[in-house]
Formats: sequence, C-alpha cells, structure tokens
Amino acid sequence: MTGFPQLRLRRLRRTQPLRALVRETRLEVGDLVYPLFIVEGSGLKQEIASMPGIFRYSVDLLPQEVEEIAKLGIPGVLLFGIPAHKDEAGSQAYHPKGVVQQAIQAIKKAVPELIVVTDVCLCEYTSHGHCGIVVDGQINNDQTLPLLARTALSHAEAGADIVAPSDMMDGRVKSIREALEGGGFHDTLILSYAAKYASAFFGPFRDAAESTPQFDDRRSYQMDPANWREALREVEQDIAEGADMVMVKPALAYLDVIHAVRDNFNYPLVAYNVSGEYAMVKAAAKCGWLDERQVTLEILTAIKRAGADIIITYHAKEVAQWLPTT
Ligand code: PBG
Ligand code: ZN
Repeated sequence: MTGFPQLRLRRLRRTQPLRALVRETRLEVGDLVYPLFIVEGSGLKQEIASMPGIFRYSVDLLPQEVEEIAKLGIPGVLLFGIPAHKDEAGSQAYHPKGVVQQAIQAIKKAVPELIVVTDVCLCEYTSHGHCGIVVDGQINNDQTLPLLARTALSHAEAGADIVAPSDMMDGRVKSIREALEGGGFHDTLILSYAAKYASAFFGPFRDAAESTPQFDDRRSYQMDPANWREALREVEQDIAEGADMVMVKPALAYLDVIHAVRDNFNYPLVAYNVSGEYAMVKAAAKCGWLDERQVTLEILTAIKRAGADIIITYHAKEVAQWLPTT
C-alpha cells in the first residue's frame, strides 16, 4: 500500500515540533558573512540610498561596528574599500596604507577572532571603474594579474584571513596563490568569486562603491546569465589554480547554478545574496507589500537548500536578531 489514505504527507506537518523534527535545511547565524564598505576620512557613517540600513564607515568607526557584529554571532565580514583617489591603475587597491589595509588592522585589533575576508578587485580603485587594466580600450587580462596578486598580498600582510578575488580575470587565482606562497602566507585562504555573472542585481552596490564602469560594461569578463555549464568550468579552473572555497554570485536568480556546483565539487560553497536582492526586499517591505522578516528567511533558507554552505548577505545583522539563538 503506497497511496492515500495510508499515505498522508500532511502527518509530517501537523504540529510545529514535528515540522522542526523533519526539517531538512537550517539557517544559522554561523553561516553568514556581513559586507562592510569602508571610506577614507574620519567620523563618517554614510547611509547608502539604495541600500537602507547599510552604511559606509570610516576606519575609526569600525571597532564599534565589528564589536556589535561579533556580539550578534556573525563569524565574518567582507571588506570593500572606497578610496579618496582613483587612477588608471587602481593603485590605492595595493597601497600598503590603503583604506582596506587599514581597516583590516583596525578590525583585527578590535576583534581578533572575527574572520576578515577582503574583496580583491580594481573596480573601486580605477578611474574608469573596470575590474582590470584598460589597454587600447580593452580590459587587459594578463596585465591585471600582477596588480591583483599585489592587492591580495597586501591584504594578507595586513592580517586578512581570506582573500576573495571578484574581478573574473583568467588566471587570477594562480597569480594570487603564487604571491601568497612567495610572501610566506601559506595559510591565507582564497575564496574565488568563481561563477560571477554580469548581473543587473549589482546596481545598488555600484552606488555604494562608486564603481560603475565609465564605458562599456562588464560582459567581456563576467559570465553570461544564460549559462550554467560554463559556471562548472569556471569553478573547476579556480579549484585547479588553488582556490580553497568557491562562490556563486548573485544567489537568488542562480539557485540552479548553486545546486550544480554543490553536486559537482566537494569544496566549501559560498553564495552572495547581492545588493539588488537586498534592495528589492527592502523596497517591497517599505511599501508594505512583503513581510521582510519572513521573505528574507525564506530566501536565505532557499539558498542553503540549493547547496550553499555560507551566505554573504546585507541582511546578516537583522537575521542574527531574528533567528533563535542555539
Ligand atoms: C567588485 C564587486 C562587485 C560586487 C562584489 N564585488 C560589483 C561588480 O562586479 O560590479 C557586487 C556585490 C553586490 O552587488 O552586492 N568586482
Ligand atoms: Zn571589480
């Protein structure tokens, strides 16, 4: 006998304790990483218009902020720098006293156990807003690699636990791994933004980081949203070059890609619940059209169900307050 009435799937859903007992996916604060934007200057805490509740902080205000993050049980932060001066070569990205390098030191001093992940890219630092060096109007892959490696090494020297290249140049993981080994940083982890798509969901981030490309777009280096097999090749390549963890980004519109990567690779898998995903929820909630808490928990649980181990999310602080403490 396999059919109704012997079989009643609703038996498993009758009460809250039963539902909890058979729950397949659990979202925990320990899964979350919170992004932080850091600006030069002092005493600055500027709200980002398209990302309500998210601020750009100057380095002097970071200790207080990271203490709060750590108290909430959030295990790590992801740092983005917004320099005062941008140039063609993005030189502030790898300056030993750059804004991110200073931020890493300040955070490690305030809360040594907080995991510091750094975004490694040039777009916040270049005058043209591209993730690589521009030569003859093109984004030059190979000339960008040494600058990314230098940037990652400078983050490791400042005390970063994990460097996360987001530029999508070919060969960057290899260059970064070689630079880290050369500098004696054998234990610095590389989290590669392996399958990163040319997505319109990054819009609010570019307001926050002032990193909108000044000509063309990022489609010659970020992936076509129509492709998932190619994502597996990107992940395979980055793992071969020495990545310790891999990322799929964005998350919500790419759950199938997360699932495919989970099925094919045994590496820690990170999903980035990006700025546009956050902004959509915030905007609808503000209009009273969605229940922010329920929708956010549903989205993040779905990202885990698809196969992500770790989620980078602007909602991390709120989620930490919403989830039951374990
Ligand atoms: C930099 C970078 C971007 C994001 C993370 N790192 C922007 C981009 O590639 O244009 C997007 C993050 C978000 O939208 O929340 N390369
Ligand atoms: Zn970039």
